[in-house]
Amino acid sequence: MPHNELHRPDIRLRKLQPGERTVQWLLIADPSREMLAHYLHEADLLGILLDGKRAGIAAVLPKGKQLCELMNIALLPEHCGQGHGTRVLKTLFRRYKRKGFSHMQVGTAAEVPSILAFYQKSGFVRTGTRKNFFLKNYPEPIFDNTTQCRDMARLERAL
Ligand SMILES: CC(C)(COP(=O)(O)OP(=O)(O)OC[C@H]1O[C@@H](n2cnc3c(N)ncnc32)[C@H](O)[C@@H]1OP(=O)(O)O)[C@@H](O)C(=O)NCCC(=O)NCCS
Repeated sequence: MPHNELHRPDIRLRKLQPGERTVQWLLIADPSREMLAHYLHEADLLGILLDGKRAGIAAVLPKGKQLCELMNIALLPEHCGQGHGTRVLKTLFRRYKRKGFSHMQVGTAAEVPSILAFYQKSGFVRTGTRKNFFLKNYPEPIFDNTTQCRDMARLERAL
């Protein structure tokens, strides 16, 4: 069904405090607790609310006065593929522009065309590749369906 025939819920972001079951939510998109630990305490952790109900999480790490990085974005499976993620990105762009940031970066599996398309459709442009990032930094092999994630694509967008 095309997106415009679906219910378009109200989307809000709510800042979460550590302990609000944030780790379980972050693990949806990033399966390594060790990797999460690198940004868990420095990133803004934002609950994604659809019509007021918790449906996902986003983590944004400030990396300087102008630059921030989207470290994690995840929706519960039942909310995926309906255009909500794209609307969450728009909300994030507005929020971080308002805070004075000029650019947002993101890193994701270079081997997964659908996730690259998700970011590129929202204006992210590929800036580089970290070869073997997932092989070197994760204790176990990471798969998206049957595709093994090896390299990290780096992308950036002006806000
Ligand atoms: C990634 C995620 C946040 C995207 O949100 P979403 O609401 O599902 O995405 P949208 O419906 O806004 O999709 C936008 C575009 O992304 C691409 N896309 C997203 N999910 C896709 C999928 N499962 N298969 C194919 N394309 C997909 C499509 O190009 C789509 O464009 P289209 O609607 O014109 O076909 C969500 O799917 C999710 O939480 N997934 C699990 C966690 C995860 O992988 N996080 C990202 C780690 S880098």
